[in-house]
Amino acid sequence: MKKDRFLITGLGGKRTLAGELTVSGAKNAILKLMASSLIFKTAVTFSNVPEIEDVRRMGEMLQDLGAAVSFDRSGFVSISTENVKKTTLDREIAKRMRSSIIVTGPLLARFGAVSFPHPGGCVIGDRPIDMFLEGYQKMGAVVSISKTGEDYEIKAPNGLVGAEIFFRIPSVTNTETFMMTAVLAWGRTVLQNAAMEPEIESLAEFLNKSGAKISGAGTPTITIEGGGLLESGGVFETMPDRIEAGSFLILAALAGKEISITHCEPRHLIALTEALRESGVPLEIGKSSISVSLPKNMPVSDFKSVNIKTHEYPGFPTDLQAPMTVFLTQVTGESLIHETIFENRLNYAPDLVRMGADIKVWDAHRVLVTGPTILKGRELFGPDLRAGLAYIMAAIIAEGDSIINNVYFIDRGYSKIEERLAAVGVSIERLAE
Ligand code: EPZ
Repeated sequence: MKKDRFLITGLGGKRTLAGELTVSGAKNAILKLMASSLIFKTAVTFSNVPEIEDVRRMGEMLQDLGAAVSFDRSGFVSISTENVKKTTLDREIAKRMRSSIIVTGPLLARFGAVSFPHPGGCVIGDRPIDMFLEGYQKMGAVVSISKTGEDYEIKAPNGLVGAEIFFRIPSVTNTETFMMTAVLAWGRTVLQNAAMEPEIESLAEFLNKSGAKISGAGTPTITIEGGGLLESGGVFETMPDRIEAGSFLILAALAGKEISITHCEPRHLIALTEALRESGVPLEIGKSSISVSLPKNMPVSDFKSVNIKTHEYPGFPTDLQAPMTVFLTQVTGESLIHETIFENRLNYAPDLVRMGADIKVWDAHRVLVTGPTILKGRELFGPDLRAGLAYIMAAIIAEGDSIINNVYFIDRGYSKIEERLAAVGVSIERLAE
């Protein structure tokens, strides 16, 4: 893994960023679209594909299974899985990203077997996969777990049978995986207490365009009629990345003079835009853009504190919790941040305190932020990709220089981030190892 670092010279509270930030295709949409190639008899092609590490890892994982994956045109990927025979996931890749778990369902449904290690991914919680294993068992599979508890082997020699699956937690990747898997199962599958993220609706739209019979995506109950391998009908565009768009919007509220965020889907960001408006940030919301224009000398402390509680979609996204906390260290007043989804997703708070933020940790799920405070540049080690971006934002508004390590985590989810930030006036340089 590359050990690149970023050197950022802070604006010291000045509001000078100006220009356009174009949003890329959504990481958490394309990774599942690529995995769904395993339930197709024909090749599939996607456009607006972000050039990020996780997309490359997913391509490598599918290639390792025997798929033909080509990134021949920038922003596009084509995948054919007709020669896939292997049903054991490459350990090294599977340990590097959570999305590897999504591939297990389609492999099991198509070939009757799958073996894989406990998936990797961000250190934001222990990331159990119990609901995946329970769901496969409900569909007739037999699960065996190695003595170490680290490796799984699942078999369904007679194929999978449609079932009623109730998720005790509305899990995003469980919802997506079982939606795809059920396409190859015998009979009807009903997913209850399903997640409702926009990426799930987009995946269902693609699968239905290709012959699947999925209804209810975007609601808590999704019904899938099994029907066998699908045939793709042309190029499918990856939806805009709402988390990237939201992070850029928060940066604009922090240090933007005249910033527009384009190629985004504002209706996917209502929880954030409402919170920023409650804080006093004036936003201009267009069909596929959001703009922030503020007087050059307007301090962020003119905005007021707001309480944030993360929640499954359409609530406040957990993936925007860290960037929002950076914003709340700069507004006036006390803000309570309550992270309800993951148990270790406030792990960045001590580093922001080291920079000068006033953050009191109440427990693993709640911190109290008091602003405004001046942040000073520091050397930082990003713990995961979303906190990594929050560190970049903190470094941009701080006084002095910051070094951000573990840039690989940031490259997992944001393509060419330093080029795009530099284009609106951020002083950021990649120190390649
Ligand atoms: C997806 O993760 C996203 N990742 C995450 O984004 C996002 O934070 C999360 O959804 C919540 O929105 C991808 O889509 C690749 P969950 P996922 O299953 O599906 C528990 C990013 O930065 N759970 O919705 O893994 C789990 O521990 C990443 O892009 C079980 O208990 O999240 C968590 O507490 C970070 N058993 C809760 O459910 C299971 O079998 C919700 O997790 C599965 C999950």
